[in-house]
Amino acid sequence: MINDLQDKIVKLKKKKNIAIVAHSYQSIEIQEIADLVGDSFMLSERVQHFKQNTIVLCGVRFMAETIKLLSPEKKVILANDAASCPMAKQLSVYEIKEFKNQNPNYSVVAYVNTTTELKAISDVCVTSSCAVKVVKNLDSDNILFIPDKNLGAMVQSKIPKKNFKFMDGCCPIHSIVTEKETINTMKKYPNYKLLCHPELSPKVCKYADFVGSTSEIINYAKNHNDNCIIGTEVNIAKKLSILYPNRHFPLLSNNLVCRNMAVTSLSDVYRAISKDDISEIEIPKGVANAARQSIKKMIELSV
Ligand code: 13P
Ligand code: SF4
Repeated sequence: MINDLQDKIVKLKKKKNIAIVAHSYQSIEIQEIADLVGDSFMLSERVQHFKQNTIVLCGVRFMAETIKLLSPEKKVILANDAASCPMAKQLSVYEIKEFKNQNPNYSVVAYVNTTTELKAISDVCVTSSCAVKVVKNLDSDNILFIPDKNLGAMVQSKIPKKNFKFMDGCCPIHSIVTEKETINTMKKYPNYKLLCHPELSPKVCKYADFVGSTSEIINYAKNHNDNCIIGTEVNIAKKLSILYPNRHFPLLSNNLVCRNMAVTSLSDVYRAISKDDISEIEIPKGVANAARQSIKKMIELSV
């Protein structure tokens, strides 16, 4: 459904040759006007091949920075400058450097939900869709996995031969879903499949029929003709209800609403493409070069 503002955005982005890319947690009205909607891995990888030189990212800051790292020649704009992921800032460069000094035989694996400074001192990045593959292919058996201990626990369960250490990071939205709430929702919807994002705690994920990234959850729903309880952000459940109106996609918990993702509005997108003085993502060269290596290594090891 295209409203007046959406119509203005679509016309203007074409006229100015701007690409709008959106994470799958963005509102449906933003997803409707985007050139690409996807998980964090897909966004950063695919934008490199876009012909447009200006990219407006609807999502959170680390996603815009990751796009900029891989496409340094492009102008990258975060649609709402205040949109940031709290998990990305949970650990400091200082504590990771300290860890490395004390554990020189450990490789640091950073979830892409981190600041560029943390990526720059890590050996490799991962996203939820490629973490298992990357850690399996990494030439090291000792892994410090930062910051998300829940995603880390999922990776560890798939690669028991490697040694893992974790720090106390997690997504403040996914991690508050409890086992009790999960059991109650499952009782309410018997015979539904439970699809979980690995940022949920292992106590919740152990009940899941499928654990995967946002895109993998959407693909699972596409390929299985079931009603599914959605164990990730509310906009995934909304999207699936639109795509498959004859099926039911209740949310695992009413708390699965990411307010950081929700700060971006259609008006922000319009402002980002219509004003010429909006600040673009800029990353100092030294830190950018080091962080880019970690992202490139992720892409290399995820094939
Ligand atoms: P994806 O990598 O699955 O897109 O997830 C990003 C995220 O922030 C999930 O909370
Ligand atoms: Fe960050 Fe969690 Fe929001 Fe994802 S859902 S952007 S990890 S706060």
